[in-house]
Amino acid sequence: MTETVSDMSALNPPPRLLLGPGPINADPRVLRAMSMPMLGQFDPVFTDYMNETMVLLRRLYQTENRWTFLVNGTARAGIEAILTSLITSGDRVLVPVFGRFGHLLCEIARRSGGDVKPMEAEWGTVFTPDQIEDAIKEHRPRVVALVHGDTSTTMAQPLDEIGAICRRLDAILYVDATATLGGMDVAVDAWQLDAVSAGLQKCLSGPPGSSPVTFNDRVTEVVNRRKHIELGIEPDGFVPGDGPRIQSNYFDLPMLMDYWSEQRLNHHTESTSMLYAAHECARIVLAESLAACVKRHALTSTALTTGLRAMNLELFGDQAHKMAGVTGVVIPKGVDGEAVRSALLNDYGIEIGTSFGPLAGRIWRIGTMGYNSRKQNVLTCLAALEATLRQEGFAAKPGAAVDEALAVYRRAGQ
Ligand SMILES: Cc1ncc(COP(=O)(O)O)c(C=O)c1O
Repeated sequence: MTETVSDMSALNPPPRLLLGPGPINADPRVLRAMSMPMLGQFDPVFTDYMNETMVLLRRLYQTENRWTFLVNGTARAGIEAILTSLITSGDRVLVPVFGRFGHLLCEIARRSGGDVKPMEAEWGTVFTPDQIEDAIKEHRPRVVALVHGDTSTTMAQPLDEIGAICRRLDAILYVDATATLGGMDVAVDAWQLDAVSAGLQKCLSGPPGSSPVTFNDRVTEVVNRRKHIELGIEPDGFVPGDGPRIQSNYFDLPMLMDYWSEQRLNHHTESTSMLYAAHECARIVLAESLAACVKRHALTSTALTTGLRAMNLELFGDQAHKMAGVTGVVIPKGVDGEAVRSALLNDYGIEIGTSFGPLAGRIWRIGTMGYNSRKQNVLTCLAALEATLRQEGFAAKPGAAVDEALAVYRRAGQ
């Protein structure tokens, strides 16, 4: 590292193909949008952009929810805004945990004062709806907080039945769709998901730093009971809610709602360039069509996993519940997983991920999300991994992986 300012040169990051669990390479159109000129946050042009962003995000989330907007910050900002606004001290919260990010939901729910009841599934598996229903009946939570795709294990929890169960048993369902929105179906209204948050840096082809959230009337009702407006901007005649004040000012949903409503009650200064990014991320997905985008992620997953198997590699976890955008690969016995990652980075400029906790050093995670979910990246990754593994002494049949992946694309007419 250079210590004297005068010796520092302008940042010039090396070109990389980011095939880890996120961030991914942002779509150049998103980077272009981010370089557009600043506008004032109450400039009517900018507030129109805010409204357009809400419209675009509603389509991504397949929802009519009025409250569909951005929380500034990385994906956990959206998680924290929802959980901290929803959970009051002592509220029982059920968290089905099947990977690291389930533990994150427990952590945030606990910090919000929740009486958290985690239930755990072995990493590499997901829950059945019955297991979740039984746990709700046992714990009677006010909130169920659930990850959709947990990038740490590469598993995706099916959601289509969970919302109805929560509704029947009078629990509010929050879902972390950080790594699935745009890459897998997240049918908020059809699946009765009460609140959902995401990030840009996965299947939406953007940089980290903005979190799209959506929530319905059930959530609005709860958080509005806690509505308090900071002094100095309170409108005349404002009557605060009778619930306890939300602990965080930055992540206070009712104040964010006022800011994103026609009222435009001042809160933070919206991150101008991140809003441009989010607008463009959503616009790009919808221009391709959400269904086509989801289909592309699925095809990429099939081609990649077919190629990896042809290389004699074992895939990690229950493949029936694999995320479309991230693939777990068991590091073969005798192969130094970190040496392979370093060689991929240094020789090919390709980043792949390792994992956390019980899976640290046991699996690689290959992300093919958003802009990176493409045939040429699958083929490049397979070819580079095969060559690297052979150098490491692993007997991968030369050429088989790329041939098999190409055959998948041919069958799909590509
Ligand atoms: C499923 C999931 N949830 C939450 C996060 C946290 O996102 P961020 O690092 O953007 O705060 C991640 C990041 O990888 C994730 O994969």
